[in-house]
Amino acid sequence: MSETAKISIQGVETELPLLVGTENEVGIDISGLRAATGAVTLDFGYKNTGSTTSSITYLDGEAGILRHRGYSIEELADKAEFLEVAYLLINGELPTKEQYDAWDNEIRRHTLVNTDIQNMFDAWPTGSHPMGQLIAMISSLSSFYPESLNPNSGEEARMRTITRLLAKMPTLCAMISKNRIGHPIIYPKNNLSYVENYLNMTFKHVTEDYELDPVFVRAMNKLLILHADHEQNCSTSTVRMVGSSNANLFASIAAGICALWGPLHGGANEACVAMLEKIREDGSDVEKYVNMAKDKDSDFRLMGFGHRVYKNFDPRANIIKKACDDVLEKLGVNDPLLAIAKKLEQVALEDEYFKARNLYPNVDFYSGIIYKALGIPTEMFTVMFALGRLPGWIAQWKEMTENKEPIGRPRQIYTGQINRIYVPIEQR
Ligand code: CMC
Repeated sequence: MSETAKISIQGVETELPLLVGTENEVGIDISGLRAATGAVTLDFGYKNTGSTTSSITYLDGEAGILRHRGYSIEELADKAEFLEVAYLLINGELPTKEQYDAWDNEIRRHTLVNTDIQNMFDAWPTGSHPMGQLIAMISSLSSFYPESLNPNSGEEARMRTITRLLAKMPTLCAMISKNRIGHPIIYPKNNLSYVENYLNMTFKHVTEDYELDPVFVRAMNKLLILHADHEQNCSTSTVRMVGSSNANLFASIAAGICALWGPLHGGANEACVAMLEKIREDGSDVEKYVNMAKDKDSDFRLMGFGHRVYKNFDPRANIIKKACDDVLEKLGVNDPLLAIAKKLEQVALEDEYFKARNLYPNVDFYSGIIYKALGIPTEMFTVMFALGRLPGWIAQWKEMTENKEPIGRPRQIYTGQINRIYVPIEQR
C-alpha cells in the first residue's frame, strides 16, 4: 500500500506521495504541490530538500556510512585503483579485467593536450591561483572539441568526451603546477598508470630522472578515491544544475570546479593548512583558536571541521587520519602541523560547543597534511580535490542527462516591494 503525506495549506488539503529509496530513506514528492495548493516550499541551503533520485552514492550521515554503487568507501579506498572506482561510478558496475584494461588503455591514449592550450599559460599573471586556471582550462576544452558542445549527440560521442576529460585532467593539473614555478612541463607517458602519470608530470624535473615512490603512488590513489564522489554536495549540484540546461560536459564540470573552490567546500583543505600554520606561528595555542571558533562575534571557524550531512563522523576523515600517520611515518616526515591538528581535534571533540553541534573533523582536516608531506604546494590542494572528484561529477552529469531531468529552476518567495509607479528621475 503506497503511503502519502497529508498537507493542509490555507484550507486546501492535498495528499502527496511518499518516495522510499533502496536504503529506506523517505522523501515527500512535492512535484504536484504548487498545482494543487498554490504553495511552494522554502529550504535555505537545501538542508531538507532532495534535488534528484540517484543510484550512484549512498550516504548516511548519522551512521557515518558512505557507499558508491553499494561498495563501502573503506573497502574501495583499501583495495581499488582510482580508475576502477571511476569506472564503477560512471558505468554502475566494477569492471571485469578485460573492461578495465580497455578503459585504462583508452584513457592512457588521450592524455596529451593540444599545444595551443600550453600557449594559454603565457597569459596568466605570475602567482595567479591554480583553481582559476583550472576552471579556464577545463571550460576551454570545449573549444578544442566542438563535437562535445551537444551533450545529446549519442552514447559513443558522450563517452569519448568523458574519456578525454578524465585523461586530460591530470595533464592540465600538472601543467598548472609546473607553470606556477616557471618550469617546463613534463609530457604524459602512456606506460604509466593514471596516478603514476600524474605524479611523474608533477614531480619529474625536465633535466633529471624521477623515480616513482610506491608510498606516494598508494597514498595518492587512496586520496583520489576518498574524494571521488559525495552525492549531491555543492559542486555536484552545480554540475547537475548547469548540465540541466544542456550545457556541455566541459562547461558543467568547470562550473563544479568554481563551486568547489570556496573555503566552505573543497577550498577548506587549503584553508585548513593555512589555519594550522597560523596556529603554529602564534605559539601553538590550540585552546585560543577553539575559543575563537566558538565566539559568535568572531568570523573564525575551525576549517576542516563540521559537515552538512555527517553528524557523527566523516568516514573519509577516519581513513585519511590513519593514512596521514602511515604516510608521514613511511616518508620519515615529522610535520609539527600534524601534532597541532591532533591536539585541535582532541580539544574540540571534548568541548561542549562542538559536541552539542555534532562537529567532527571532515575529509579536509588531514588531507592537506598528506598533500604537504608529498610535496604538493598548498595552493594546489583544491586542484587535487577536483582531480579526485572528477569521476563523481561525470557520473552525476551522465545520470542527469540519461534521466532526461528537466532544467533546474528553483522557485522563490518574493519579499521585495509590491507594485510601484515609475517616477521620472527629475521628480525623485
Ligand atoms: N567551526 C565552528 N563552528 C562551526 C563550524 C566550524 N567549522 N561548523 C559549523 N559550526 C557551527 C555553526 O556556527 C552553527 O552554530 P549555531 O547553531 O550556534 O549557529 C552550527 O555549527 C551549525 O553550522 P552551520 O553553518 O549551520 O552548518 P552547515 O551545514 O550550514 O555548514 C559547513 C556545514 C561544512 C559549511 C560548516 O561546518 C563549515 O563552515 N565548516 C568549515 C569549513 C569546512 O571544513 N568545509 C569542508 C566541508 S567537507 C568537504 C566538502 O565535502 O565540502
